[in-house]
Amino acid sequence: MNDFKYCTPTQYVFGRGVESQTGQLTRSMGSTRVLIVYGGGSVVRSGLLGRVKQSLDAEGIEYFDLGGINPNPTDDRVYEGIELCRANGIDGVLGVGGGSAIDTAKAIAGGALYDGDFWDFYAGKAIMTEALPIGVVLTIPAAGSEGSGNSVITKLDGLHKISLRTDTALRPRFAVMNPELTFTLPPYQTASGIADMMTHIYERYFTNTPDVEVTDRVAEGVLKAIINEAPKVMADPENYEARANIMWCGTLAHNGVCGTGRQEDWVSHFMEHELSAVYGVTHGAGLAVIVPAWLTFMVDHNPGKVAQFARRVWDVDIADDRLAAIEGINRLKDFYRSIGMPVTIKELGIENPDIDLLVKKLHENKGEVIGGYYRLTATETEQIYRLAL
Ligand code: NZQ
Ligand code: ZN
Repeated sequence: MNDFKYCTPTQYVFGRGVESQTGQLTRSMGSTRVLIVYGGGSVVRSGLLGRVKQSLDAEGIEYFDLGGINPNPTDDRVYEGIELCRANGIDGVLGVGGGSAIDTAKAIAGGALYDGDFWDFYAGKAIMTEALPIGVVLTIPAAGSEGSGNSVITKLDGLHKISLRTDTALRPRFAVMNPELTFTLPPYQTASGIADMMTHIYERYFTNTPDVEVTDRVAEGVLKAIINEAPKVMADPENYEARANIMWCGTLAHNGVCGTGRQEDWVSHFMEHELSAVYGVTHGAGLAVIVPAWLTFMVDHNPGKVAQFARRVWDVDIADDRLAAIEGINRLKDFYRSIGMPVTIKELGIENPDIDLLVKKLHENKGEVIGGYYRLTATETEQIYRLAL
């Protein structure tokens, strides 16, 4: 096991009706004038935004709105938010919604305290060490941004979708998590969220770091819980207990607990981010397509951990590593199909993807050779995109 430091300062407040505590929680992070960042309208239609504002009113906290954040959020809205913060003396940012609203809130929180262009942090030209305090009210278990120190933003100029990873600056102070808020999710978003959280575990699980039994077992346990609960939320969207389990899985998948003491990978995410940036696909659905192709490539290049995944997560009972791995990948694809996820680029609705462009952007953004579990050149990432066709 590698040495590590692990800090998750986020206070998770979980259960029915907990959004009524948003005002108190905001006050306890020291904020009195906040920017509320939210998406295209689901939080307005559900009445959540109104309840959050009521809770802020009750604590005498002033607020300003930045709504209409799109999935795969873009830098233009971040600049707008930073301006709003500066013009109004804002001292805290609330992300209300999913990863897109939360990641925009985070980018604004970091950018508001920085004299230069906030994109410097995403472009690797500056290191973010501070941000305005961030609070979250989560409405979709998926991106795990409620517990991560990350934010993913697309620069419209050139369509660069980049993930910024900070140790602590962007970790929310609190995350309000009411599983009932997820009852209204459309099935495709529920399933995409499931595929995304599973991938957050794989990116950590597939490692060459030896002797990481405890994190392997934590990862396998959370994956098994997701596989068990997913059919229940798909069949009955208002099953509170199943929604609650899935919601907490989404956080555990990405708040770092599955990644301690081991090298991580993240190539599937990098490859998917190019699909989202160029074709606007839903992140989790894109991952359901990329991951089986990435795993299939690994069967011939580094099958060991894929075989372990097949045996321990998918109960494959085959002694040969290669054959076990192949069977595990088949069971994973069957699972994705069973919850309505695509498993090929074609099924994502992209008939003739420009693979040369995807590969070019991928390596421009992430480097010539990428990945932890297996180091991939451009020729090899091209092969993986082709395996996904
Ligand atoms: O915009 P609204 O109207 O709110 O609708 C959203 C949106 O259309 C809808 N939705 C959310 N909660 C709902 C709901 N509809 C009905 N009822 C509810 N309760 O769902 C759609 C998707 O929302 P979005 O915020 O985009 O979803 P998600 O949480 O999957 O976030 C995706 C973004 O997060 C990034 C992705 O790349 C993508 O840009 N990621 C962020 C990470 C992080 N910060 O740590 C890690 C991830 O790997 C990921 O890359
Ligand atoms: Zn993800």
